[in-house]
Amino acid sequence: MPSYNALQQSDPLVYDAVIGEMQRQVEGVELIPSENYISAPVMEAMATVFNNKYSEGYPGKRYYGGQKYADIIEQLAIDRAKILFNAGNANVQPHAGAPANVATYFALLEPGDTVMGMDLSHGGHLTHGHPVTYITKIFNFVRYKMKDVETGEIDYDEMREVALRERPKLILAGFSAYPRELDYAKMKAIADEVGAYTMADMAHIAGLIAGKAARNPFDDGFDIITTTTHKTLRGPRGGMILTREEDLGKKINKSVFPGFQGGPIMQMIAAKAVAFAEAAKPEFQDYAKQIVVNAKHMANLFMENGAKLVTNGTDNHLMMIDCVTSWGMTGQEVETLFDDIGITLNKNMIADDPRKPMDPSGIRLGTPAVTTRGMKEVEMEQLTTFMLSAIKKKDNPSAIKDLHEEVKTFCNKFPVPGIDLKQLS
Ligand SMILES: Cc1ncc(COP(=O)(O)O)c(C=O)c1O
Repeated sequence: MPSYNALQQSDPLVYDAVIGEMQRQVEGVELIPSENYISAPVMEAMATVFNNKYSEGYPGKRYYGGQKYADIIEQLAIDRAKILFNAGNANVQPHAGAPANVATYFALLEPGDTVMGMDLSHGGHLTHGHPVTYITKIFNFVRYKMKDVETGEIDYDEMREVALRERPKLILAGFSAYPRELDYAKMKAIADEVGAYTMADMAHIAGLIAGKAARNPFDDGFDIITTTTHKTLRGPRGGMILTREEDLGKKINKSVFPGFQGGPIMQMIAAKAVAFAEAAKPEFQDYAKQIVVNAKHMANLFMENGAKLVTNGTDNHLMMIDCVTSWGMTGQEVETLFDDIGITLNKNMIADDPRKPMDPSGIRLGTPAVTTRGMKEVEMEQLTTFMLSAIKKKDNPSAIKDLHEEVKTFCNKFPVPGIDLKQLS
């Protein structure tokens, strides 16, 4: 870990906030399913002089000189990503997940074309066509949903009917709040029937796919995978677009640059390369499997204690709890209560939620970050006990304070990779 001496000297306000955030991450429990802790090598690669370099273009084809080392870095990231996900082409330049999705839409579609994605209250992401996003001014989005919220099964018959009627040019798989596996083969068959491309936005489960704890959509013939690199994949904040066929990758590359972005953020690409090498190691497969084991265990514990989970469980890293039905509390109330004991998660809409997005009925929580800290089933039991105790004692401020102290003591046993507070004192 860097000493941060120079930062402390030159800008104490920023330094204090950085140290405060480190403390928060070490002393608290992170259950937001889209968050994780990066390793020290990934963090070191981010904080490098590649920040100083402009590298518009691609390895071997740049618009600026001085690219010897930038080319090495980007090519490493590309080659490692291709192997990790069995892809024909990898574009590692998207600055984040949202630009990766938008660049993909522009690569494949004309204005006015139709895209079919998962209903947002059933787990889809904003970038899959939420009316507040600008992309809906350009493309037409239609939806599919779960057939049965008790099992989470997607209504593939309805999906086919809508596809035959609306003739989408692109069928989207992927989610940020759905706890089950999708049937990519069924989606691909529907797409083939209507001549649509298939795109899987695997932002949430990329690490599970890389670690072979979830199915790779390319194995069922999907054309494209978009992803973030900072969630289960445990890399730097950023995005990536993979194609099964090398040729389709040419369209994607043109769309990312010059179509959509300017210069790539090369220090993040260096960190992506490091993260992809880490994800290719056998121990990452153990990590990915443990994420799912932990999530299933925690979900079962909640259900045994009377909580109502959307789809009654999970197959991946996350779960959704209907707080109104479970505890007569809103998602916001539960988020705030758990924050008070040092456990962070987020309020979230549940399927067909009658409440508003800023004050929804549910919470979303998951196990990628706690699994990175080395927690296993027994710790999931402890964490669930902390949360259920908080619910029981919610009207007793001193009991909540005591619980917060217990959570801090518990966290001391599980160091966060890349953060060593002792080094700073
Ligand atoms: C499925 C999905 N796609 C895209 C994104 C957007 O990623 P970013 O926040 O990096 O733009 C997210 C972020 O939560 C996501 O869950």
